[in-house]
Amino acid sequence: MPKAAMFVPYGESGSGSYGATLGKLHAGYIEPIHSKVFKLAVSIPFPKGSVFSIGDYGTADGGSSMVFLGRLLEFLKERHGPDTQFQVIHEDQGRNDFNSLFRRLTGIIPEPPSYLLSMDNVYAFACGTDFYKQCVPSDSMHFIMCMMSVHWLSQPPTVYRDSIYVCNDSLEEEKEALRKQAQMDWEKFLLMRSRELKEGGVLFVGAPAAYMDQKTCQVRFSGETLVTLMTDIWKSFTVSCKITRQEFIKTNISFCLRNLLQMREPFEAENSQITASGLRLLLSEIILNKNIYYSSWKQKKYEEGIDDREEFAEMMVSAYRNWSNHSFMAGLSDTRSLKEKKQIVDDLYANVIMELATMNPELYKNDFYTAYALIKKV
Ligand SMILES: C[S@@+](CC[C@H](N)C(=O)[O-])C[C@H]1O[C@@H](n2cnc3c(N)ncnc32)[C@H](O)[C@@H]1O
Repeated sequence: MPKAAMFVPYGESGSGSYGATLGKLHAGYIEPIHSKVFKLAVSIPFPKGSVFSIGDYGTADGGSSMVFLGRLLEFLKERHGPDTQFQVIHEDQGRNDFNSLFRRLTGIIPEPPSYLLSMDNVYAFACGTDFYKQCVPSDSMHFIMCMMSVHWLSQPPTVYRDSIYVCNDSLEEEKEALRKQAQMDWEKFLLMRSRELKEGGVLFVGAPAAYMDQKTCQVRFSGETLVTLMTDIWKSFTVSCKITRQEFIKTNISFCLRNLLQMREPFEAENSQITASGLRLLLSEIILNKNIYYSSWKQKKYEEGIDDREEFAEMMVSAYRNWSNHSFMAGLSDTRSLKEKKQIVDDLYANVIMELATMNPELYKNDFYTAYALIKKV
């Protein structure tokens, strides 16, 4: 199987590009579930005088979780007292843009405001360890959150012959390989977090989901409309000979958007290692999230009378480019220069913006479902 890159951050190191694009879209995805998370967080046993440990796994540049973490810390401080000490561990893979994370935490990148600047007794650290490994000492964490990250797999699950991600027409063996890899990785992730959590500790996970479209009764996945558009344009590049058929085949996205049953599976299996490790699934649900870029388009249209589809297209593509750029770059042949690869991928996104700007943003408003899991270690 050809080696494809998993998640590689896009944008200049230290520029805060993640938080300014995809992070903005994601920041609100914690909202629908935050009160349930807070309620559980205060139930975590915490002996007075010890240090409360919080982990933000797959933190990227911290842009999407900064406000939530600030609110959580305030809430816990009210409960445990202002002198309680907290440590926040921002975890991500070694190639992450930690430069931007520290610039955000210290206020050099001012938006959204850093929780560190307004609070005493809070200490922030970074951890550059792959989350499919143990990242912190055993039995050391009270609360771990991981938003929009566990869908990224530990390795490419398969090679899709005719798409860049699994689709209804994918071969059965491609679907099965993806399912297997995704379940192995989910279990591994849970086992590692189980080791790290203290008894009574909480794990909160949110990830883009696969779901049943109620109108058409078809299985769909979050962001499918735009992924399909990117796929179609990339495929059209094989017809215009911008890329080869081999390069199209080599372009694969190594993630899996799981459905709720897949999220629940490790907790329900007989002789489950996850249950034996002490993890219990308290809640799992799928919620449709608002698209802030759609909302701004609509506001501009109805309040100012401007139907700015171009702006909508640019915002959406800047967010999607953030997570997808590396997959297209990795698909291109190594006989091409880096400059040539960048030019082809720039052309792809320019085409996606152009196409998207001709479409009605209404098509995108019901396109993003997130699966949430609230888990406790007993
Ligand atoms: C789409 S971003 C999500 C960032 C943020 N949590 C949010 O909600 O917007 C996915 C993040 O997961 C990280 N990631 C992917 N695979 C990882 C792994 N194996 N170990 C640690 N982090 C990983 C990526 O580096 C990236 O920063």
